[in-house]
Amino acid sequence: MPNMLAGRKILLIITGGIAAFKAIDIIRLIKKAGGEVQPILTASAQEFVTPLTAGTIAGNEALSELFDLTRESDIGHIELVRDADLIVVAPCTANFMAKMANGLADDLASTAILARDKHVIVAPAMNVKMWSAGPTQRNLNLIVEDGMQIVGPDEGEMACGEFGPGRMAEPETVFAAIEDYFYTFGENLPLKGKRILITSGATREPLDPVRYLTNASSGKQGTAIAAALRAAGAEIEFVTGAAEVPPPNGVNVTQITTAQDMYDAVHEALPCDVAIFCAAVSDWRPKEVGSKKIKKTGDGEAPSLEMVLNPDILKSVAALEPGERPALVIGFAAETDNVTEHARAKYERKGCDWLLANDVSAKTGTFGGDSNAIVFFDDQGHHEWPQMSKAEVGQKLANRIASFLKQSD
Ligand code: CTP
Repeated sequence: MPNMLAGRKILLIITGGIAAFKAIDIIRLIKKAGGEVQPILTASAQEFVTPLTAGTIAGNEALSELFDLTRESDIGHIELVRDADLIVVAPCTANFMAKMANGLADDLASTAILARDKHVIVAPAMNVKMWSAGPTQRNLNLIVEDGMQIVGPDEGEMACGEFGPGRMAEPETVFAAIEDYFYTFGENLPLKGKRILITSGATREPLDPVRYLTNASSGKQGTAIAAALRAAGAEIEFVTGAAEVPPPNGVNVTQITTAQDMYDAVHEALPCDVAIFCAAVSDWRPKEVGSKKIKKTGDGEAPSLEMVLNPDILKSVAALEPGERPALVIGFAAETDNVTEHARAKYERKGCDWLLANDVSAKTGTFGGDSNAIVFFDDQGHHEWPQMSKAEVGQKLANRIASFLKQSD
């Protein structure tokens, strides 16, 4: 994954609230990813974390006073903002949100915000009643209209003992939004401007309102591929069934249940440059879906299931006319035996450009596990990739897609 934060400078404004300690973790995450942090603490933030702590972790002196003359003479508040690539306010109190919404500038943090020429990510943190209060919601609308990006707040138990929305988003979530900003606006990303459709997870075919047929796909491989392609700058349409892992940050998610839903969502999301079919799709569905729970009969007989075929989504996209067909259509093959032989037949049958076959027999632990061993097929033949993590498979595939598109541009 390209290291998006290397050499990037983030102005982190920490305002006063119990969540201020979480800002320290945000600093750590940015530093670990190679970014630079310039912390600014408001006076009330210093009741919760000291400038020394924030400055030491950041490796940059934490600033707080507007009229620090020495500081003002060499880096004024305007330069501070000009110097930064991104501004993050975390945690953002109701009071600071009100100041940002109304253009108040009575300390270094609020002055920097008013003088900004950079994108601002805001992670609010406050008591649930303060969050839902009319003035706060009005201020929220104003800062959103001004182009600020809001992350959170989360719902949950608050430090004050009340329950509801108001808790600051977790540091990892704020960090993901920071990374995503640079993915979206970063320069020289290999897949910038490319639109990629990915299916992932398992479909579910209902038998009645409480039962369904499905499979053991965890969605991990599709998610890892989406994350790697997003990191390379692509816009991702992620059409997913049931999965054990959440979709990656920054992708457009369409959640579906059945194979027919997935077919419809995929065709709706077209056109795209590349389409990747990672989902484990049910090949059949019950012909009749009971509107009520199917009951046991008194005679002890088990009901028999009549099945009908589902549409083959990959095949339908691979067969599109030039102009409508993505430049690259990539399928997967889940096999439990004779992997190469079955996969070659599947490659020919499906009409895709590349096919990644994996052995999903129980002994390999591929389904649900974190690693994968791929046999890769294209029109030149096939070759084996060594066993690697699903994240590495995602990265390798992203690199291959980027070089294919570069050649065909
Ligand atoms: N696929 C699809 N729509 C279907 C079935 C499969 O898009 N109705 C896609 C999968 O996402 C995968 C590829 O086709 O990219 C192969 O899926 P797989 O389950 O391995 O093969 P099947 O076509 O289902 O064939 P078989 O069950 O005979 O192995």
